Amino acid sequence: MKGLVPAGGLGSRLRPLSHTMPKQLVPVAGTPVVVHALHRLREAGVTETALVVGEFAPQLQEALGDGSALGMRLTYLRQGRPRGIADCVMLARDFLADDDFVLYLGDNVLPGGIADYAAEFRATRPAAQVVVHKVPDPRAYGVAELDPDGKVTRIVEKPPEPRSDLAVIGVYFCTAALHEAVAAIRPSARGELEITDALQWLVSRGDEVRARVHAGYWKDTGTVDDLLDCNRELLNQLTPAVCGEVDGASELIGPVRIAEGARIVRSRIHGPVTIGAGTSVLDSRIGPHTAIGRQCSVVASGIGSSILLDGSHITGVPDLHGSVIGRHARVDRRREPRGRRLVLGDHTTAEVTG
Ligand code: DAU
Repeated sequence: MKGLVPAGGLGSRLRPLSHTMPKQLVPVAGTPVVVHALHRLREAGVTETALVVGEFAPQLQEALGDGSALGMRLTYLRQGRPRGIADCVMLARDFLADDDFVLYLGDNVLPGGIADYAAEFRATRPAAQVVVHKVPDPRAYGVAELDPDGKVTRIVEKPPEPRSDLAVIGVYFCTAALHEAVAAIRPSARGELEITDALQWLVSRGDEVRARVHAGYWKDTGTVDDLLDCNRELLNQLTPAVCGEVDGASELIGPVRIAEGARIVRSRIHGPVTIGAGTSVLDSRIGPHTAIGRQCSVVASGIGSSILLDGSHITGVPDLHGSVIGRHARVDRRREPRGRRLVLGDHTTAEVTG
């Protein structure tokens, strides 16, 4: 079975981060979202995967290379503009040939993996198999209706009045029958070739599309709140490892990962926390649920429930919480004149208290 990972798109809900980087490279618990997806594919026995990439193709290629570090072979397919997930399947027609494949959306995170679902698909081989998850408000997702046997009877993209509470997770097991479906459908109202419409096309033709209900954790990391929630969940499963330097005046509590070349001085790290290579933390309190990237500095600050991307610098900020700080961004304390001074880029959100 091959893998197909759409990792293009606009990421408009993750601006300003997505102005300069693909949303699939934003790290959660210290690892880019798309790398989590590739690990899950590898665990399910997939060794050959195509990534569909958009304008950020060079960044993705630089980060993931030929895939050998992940134990798989990666191929990159360029999508000129985001024409929809079914368009990604069309682009991959030659790569996929007539093989079965897993379509795994590059911004979806399922920490529990997909190996059981893959095994079931391999054993039963319906035309397609989706994974669904009960959510309180499914209007932002594909929504599936099932018969008591787990067969999909109807599947609709982002319905304003959903007829079930089962959101379609971004992991689809497909046979070559899907190629006929993606060739037959027309763009939706939002101008995209929807994977959901292709699946509905199969259902309408009488093909068997099955669904498995996923009870564990799942997140589409489309927004900052989703990223932070996912960061918290994955950090809760952190395996501790201290490779960097921690001085005698510092204290580590709970699961903490400190990469090689990181330096912790006169600080309190309350896990789960991960700190990347080459980062310095001086006179600060970090955690819980905080992931700090590589080559960052945190000085005389307090940070909790946050994600700091590589090369960011925080100085003299005692109460940073629930924040995502972009690459090479800087947050400094200023004493005089009083009052807040902000220099914000386009599409930035800043929240202040007091
Ligand atoms: O997360 C699950 C949901 O994902 C499903 O419930 C929906 O049925 C499905 O349509 C999809 O909805 P989204 O609106 O969240 O899809 P998004 O535009 O975020 O794209 C998902 C991934 O695919 C993301 O990594 C970007 C990539 N992509 C998307 C489009 C439209 C591409 O590579 N090319 C594209 O043309």
